[in-house]
This record gives sequence, structure tokens and C-alpha cells, in this order.
Amino acid sequence: MAGDDYESHEHDVLVIGAGGAGLRAAIEAAAQGVSVGLVCKSLLGKAHTVMAEGGIAAALGNVWPEDNWQVHFRDTMRGGKMLNNWRMAQLHAQEAPERVLELERWGALFDRTKDGRILQRDFGGHRYARLAHVGDRTGLEMIRTLQYHGIHQGIDVYMECKIERLLKDGERVCGAFGYWRETGKFVLFKAKAIVLATGGIGKAWKITSNSWEYTGDGHALALWAGADLIDMEFVQFHPTGMVWPPSVRGILVTEGVRGDGGTLRNKNGERFMFNYIPEFFKGETADNEAEADRWYEDKRNNRRTPDLLPRDEVARAINTEVKAGRGSPHGGAFLDICTRRPADYIRKRLPSMYHQFKELADVDITKEPMEVGPTCHYVMGGVRVDADSAAATVPGLFAAGEVAGGMHGANRLGGNSLSDLLVFGRRAGLSAALYAKNRGGQLTVDQGQVEAVAREVIAPFDRAHGENPYALQAELQETMQTLVGIIRTESELREALGKIERLKARAVRVGVDGNRQYNPGWHTALDLKSLLTVAECCATAALERTESRGGHTRDDHPYTDDQWGKVNVVQRLEGADLRLRREALPEMPAELKALFQERK
Ligand code: FUM
Repeated sequence: MAGDDYESHEHDVLVIGAGGAGLRAAIEAAAQGVSVGLVCKSLLGKAHTVMAEGGIAAALGNVWPEDNWQVHFRDTMRGGKMLNNWRMAQLHAQEAPERVLELERWGALFDRTKDGRILQRDFGGHRYARLAHVGDRTGLEMIRTLQYHGIHQGIDVYMECKIERLLKDGERVCGAFGYWRETGKFVLFKAKAIVLATGGIGKAWKITSNSWEYTGDGHALALWAGADLIDMEFVQFHPTGMVWPPSVRGILVTEGVRGDGGTLRNKNGERFMFNYIPEFFKGETADNEAEADRWYEDKRNNRRTPDLLPRDEVARAINTEVKAGRGSPHGGAFLDICTRRPADYIRKRLPSMYHQFKELADVDITKEPMEVGPTCHYVMGGVRVDADSAAATVPGLFAAGEVAGGMHGANRLGGNSLSDLLVFGRRAGLSAALYAKNRGGQLTVDQGQVEAVAREVIAPFDRAHGENPYALQAELQETMQTLVGIIRTESELREALGKIERLKARAVRVGVDGNRQYNPGWHTALDLKSLLTVAECCATAALERTESRGGHTRDDHPYTDDQWGKVNVVQRLEGADLRLRREALPEMPAELKALFQERK
């Protein structure tokens, strides 16, 4: 077949992606007594999960006893501009505390309150200090803990393995086919159930906090297998990435800086966020500096600082300041924590930020402000799943974490990603294991499907003078950055779609030379297919949604439209064509609706 044999493995449950969601899913599936394979594109533990630095959101009530799942649910829905799947948001808020305590039982370290409980910090859009954290390395600690726990559960881990296609037996998934990145040799996995936990799509943009792995693989694998995607127009630009020097542009600066007292200023020294408080948050947000300062000193003050508005609001505000000529020297804003907090406090609470700026930008954040600006961080859209089971619309396929859509609506609150990974990773692993146990019949893999993928995967070697994969990737990133960025218009989106179409045509002619052993050009050529797929989904959905909401701002439709607040944009492949439809959001039960009448 395509010139070589391939190895083959069989599992009840195959988890693709080994960040927080994948690890948690694998642990849960293994606990059900089924055989589990865990595939990572990179090395185990190298995941975007570590980029959620500031904490895990969970209503533990350790700092504010008033906090509870209902308030967390309400904050999440409001942050998501009410487009969230309410049931996912409910399960998430209800189960997050237990998932954090479980992580602690498995050995995770957290910063502590004076009386020894898990300390919680402030983050944007959360009514109360709610983020369990360890300095600014929470995601890293979470991965470390899950990895350590996971390796004792009898899970087979396949590292540096890239899945190219899901295989189907009739309507159901029955396996996955891919290759080892190191040797270039093929590998087949037969599986009764598959959990996608591949993370996001950030590498479709030029300025991003995402590393090389995040090329939308899981989104594309699901779509190609016939599954629905929802909400792909909603992309989160984290307001604070590094902007200088150019080599580190986009690297994340945790929201924990603002949670711990950092303030945003423009080049004139103005606290500009006071000019950008949306109607939705008026009354809850301090409208002058003195009041915001009081909040920082005494958190019992009811009105929070506008520096901690949800991310979509802050990113847009910085973008506007820069466009108006009030940005920092390198096209961002100033983020200042040294005025308010002493050096010891900064080094203790934000050790990674201290070192990151010192090493990479030669800036001592205990003495000088940072320069920051928006960076593509997260996609709210993803595989459409059933809230309780994490099942996708294709039998046998499940999805959890960033690759799944619905949980965060139009905009995710910081810290809700780590709790999402734990809550829905567990649910996906459990459901996949139960599905695998109940699935009857033999696992039959169609050799024709395997051979077709194999031919496609090695085809770039037959075109040694074809299109350059790096050039195509760079053109796509430029297109998405300039035309499908924080602010969008119809004409820009149409232009983007035209460019994506032309890039797709060129990608068919992409060529590489050398051989299949660790060949980065070849890997880039293969990643292009999923990148172009998710870019098209995002731009098409963004064109369809003629309003502004959360992580989707249309300059030509600047207002939020109630009619659009009732529908998801759902996408599916029909043959080779990407089809799109609007579908009504599930109705929220009355007792949950009532929570939005309350002020607290
Ligand atoms: O700013 C941060 O620490 C990122 C957190 C998140 O994306 O949840």
C-alpha cells in the first residue's frame, strides 16, 4: 500500500489529543475498564492547556463564600453573550469544584488562603474571585498532575503521531489513520469509540498564543467524517499578548496580571477602559479610577474594574486605541502592575511573567509597564456535541475541550477553559467507554479508505517543484489576520473567502522534497488541509452572522441583534460542499432563566 506496510493497533477507546481534555478523557475511559490509546501530535504534556496560566474557574467559595454554581453559570452565560449551550454551562458550573478537588487529591499544588484552603483570584467577567491557581503556572500544574496520574492507568500513549483521517464503517467511526512524525511511517488505529481532544485552530492566524500543533486537526477530522460544527465565527483574541520584540509577538501575558492589580493605559497614560464599558456591564463596573482603585484594595466593594471586563471587550478596546493613534510604541497598550504592587508580590504571584519579560523583552515588570496587544487565543466554535455525553453527531465520535463547541457561546471567560477540559474530558471519556462496551459486531476497517488517505498523504513527494507549503501557510495566516480578525466586514470576509479558495486550489499542488523521516515541510503541507478547512468554516460563518456578539465583531453590523441571539450557525459537509444552516438554541428552563433576574 502506497509503497509500504503499516503497523496497526486496536483499542476500545482512542483519544486523539493529549492536553487537559484528552488526558482527563483517557483517565476516565481507563477507569471504566476498557483499553485506551492516547495519541499526541507532539510530546506528552506539550499542550495549549499550559497557556491557561492564571487559573481554573470553579465556584469553590474559598475567598467569597457567596459564590456558588448558579453565579458561575450566570457569569459564563453572560460572558458568552447568552449563546452558550445552557446545559453545558450548567454542568460545567456544577461539576467544576469537584474536578478541582479531585485534581488536588491527585497531587496538584495550589496557592493557599491564610487558613490553608485553595486560593482563588479575580479574572475578567467572574463576579467573584474564582480562579484556583498556582502562581501563573496553573495549566502547567494541571497537565503535570494529569500526566502523572494518567501514566499509572494502563493507557497506551502514542507520541509524535499525527492523525490524518477518521475511518468509518457505515455511519459509525471505526478507527483513525495517520503517521509517525519522526519516521513518516503509517499507523492504523482501530477503535470502537474515538474522543477528539485536539484543541484549537490558532495557527490559522499570524499573531497567536497557540504553538505549531494547533492547526484545527480535530475540527477538520470531525467535519470530514460528517459531523456538525457550530459557532465557528467566534474566535477569541486574548487582549494581552506580548507585542515586542517581533520574535515573541503573540506570546500570552496572563489575565492574572490584571486580576492581581495590573491596569491598562494608552500612550497618554489614560486608563482608557473606563471609556469602553458596555451597557450590559454598566452598574457592575466602576466608572472612575478612584472607585476601581478602591475595588483593588477592598474586594468587598461591589463594582469591579473595567480592566477586568470580558476578553472580547478589552481586546476591542485596545484595538480601537491603537487604531486611533493612542497605542504604545509597538502597536499595543501598556499593562502596568509595578505602580500598584511591590516587586516581591509580583515575583511571587507572577513568576513566569517576570521571567518571560526579563528574558524575552529585557523588561523588568517590577519596575516598568509591559507592552501588550490582542493575540488569537481560542476558538469558541467546534464540534457540535450533546451536553451530557459529549457525543458528536456521528455515532462513536465524542469531543471535549477546545475542539468542542457550545460551552462558551460567543466568548469564553478566562479560567473556564481549564474547568471545561476537566468536566467535559471526564464526561467524554465515560461516554466513549460506555459506547465501546455496548457496541456490537466486529471492527471492520475498509482498506479502500486507508489506501486513499495513504496516497493523498504522500502525494506532495511527487511534486518536488510544487507550491511551497510554508508560503501557503504564511499567506493564509496573513489573510485571516487582516480580513478575519477582531473586526470584520462583509467585503473583507468575501475577499478572505476568495483568497482561501485560491489557496485551496494551490494547496492541491503543494510539493516537498527529501524523504519522510522527520520532514517539517511535509508536516506543514499536511497541516495545510485542516488549516484551510477551519479557515473556510470560520470566514463563512462570520459572513453569515450579520451582527456583533462576543468574539465576532462586524463593523458593518455593529449591534447585537436579538434574533441572532436565538440561533447557532451550524456547518456540515455535503459531498465536497460546506453547507451552513441556522438552528434554534435549546430552550433554557425557567429556573435557570430566573437567575438572570437577580443582581448578585
Ligand atoms: O490569561 C490566562 O491566564 C489565560 C487563561 C485562559 O485562557 O483561560
